[in-house]
Amino acid sequence: YRFPGEWIKDGMVLEENVTSETISRLESFEMLQGDVLVATYPKTGTTWLQELVWLVCNNGDTRKSRSVNLNGRIPFLEYKMGGGESGLEMLQTKSPPHLMMTHLRSDTFRTQIEAGKVNIVIGIRNPKDTLVSFYHFYRMNRSLGNFKGSWDDFFELHKAKHILCGDYFRWYSSWLQYKDKPNVLLVKYEDMHRRMPDVIKDVSNFLGKKLPQNIIDGIVQHLSFDNMSKNNTVNRSIMATFDNKISPFLRKGKVGDWKNYFSKEQSDAVDKSYKDIIEPFGVTLSFE
Ligand code: PPS
Repeated sequence: YRFPGEWIKDGMVLEENVTSETISRLESFEMLQGDVLVATYPKTGTTWLQELVWLVCNNGDTRKSRSVNLNGRIPFLEYKMGGGESGLEMLQTKSPPHLMMTHLRSDTFRTQIEAGKVNIVIGIRNPKDTLVSFYHFYRMNRSLGNFKGSWDDFFELHKAKHILCGDYFRWYSSWLQYKDKPNVLLVKYEDMHRRMPDVIKDVSNFLGKKLPQNIIDGIVQHLSFDNMSKNNTVNRSIMATFDNKISPFLRKGKVGDWKNYFSKEQSDAVDKSYKDIIEPFGVTLSFE
């Protein structure tokens, strides 16, 4: 197995659709008051959180959300969709406030984060379910080199830190250092499962949007796994490099699927990294 078009920036393995030039331009890209940046490690519920943030910013207008693909509404900053424009380029044709998404570590955005203008929503999911979801993504996404390995092979790739966007733990230690800043909100995938209405309220309070209860109810319904699976503007069914027959992009959407994959040793190793790296930030995640 060989990762395609691979280049490495400071331990981040990046695919050919992410160029070093885009990343340098992002370092100096000005983010303004009222802009929103969704920052997530892959497979932690990015799409779910993006759709939520977009709806909160657009008064729960689910009709409008269904008329434009999610990537057009919240551009993926560093990525060149279909090899064309990067999300950053797409954004520059839109008037602010800008909604945007990144899978990069915080290092690229240090200046903008410290300037304190942009609102940042960091999404996190327990590392075990994240890695299982990532394994299936490697299998189904042809742009990642037709990975044919087993779960154990994939686990070793992550352990060797030889993986798209780098190691989960290093990624989160880069972002969680900012979690208590007033312009930063941390959203947990597991909370979106258990208490979605509260998460929507947290995000709307954070972004200064007041939503009536009926709008919140509509957003909750729109964001259900079943509804999102059937919604072509968010289910990535249009992505030419995805083979949804191998594994659908919205695959299971559960908490605790890791138990079907992890050995005792693998689970112990992740528990240790979680205790050493995530818990010291005062962050507790739920694994079931
Ligand atoms: S990506 O490629 O990084 O943008 O992927 P990402 O969106 O971060 O993560 C995909 C996982 O999120 C799950 N998902 C959901 N779960 C529950 N409800 C809803 N509505 C929902 N939408 C997306 C998706 O199923 C992937 O997780 P797994 O465990 O693989 O099913």
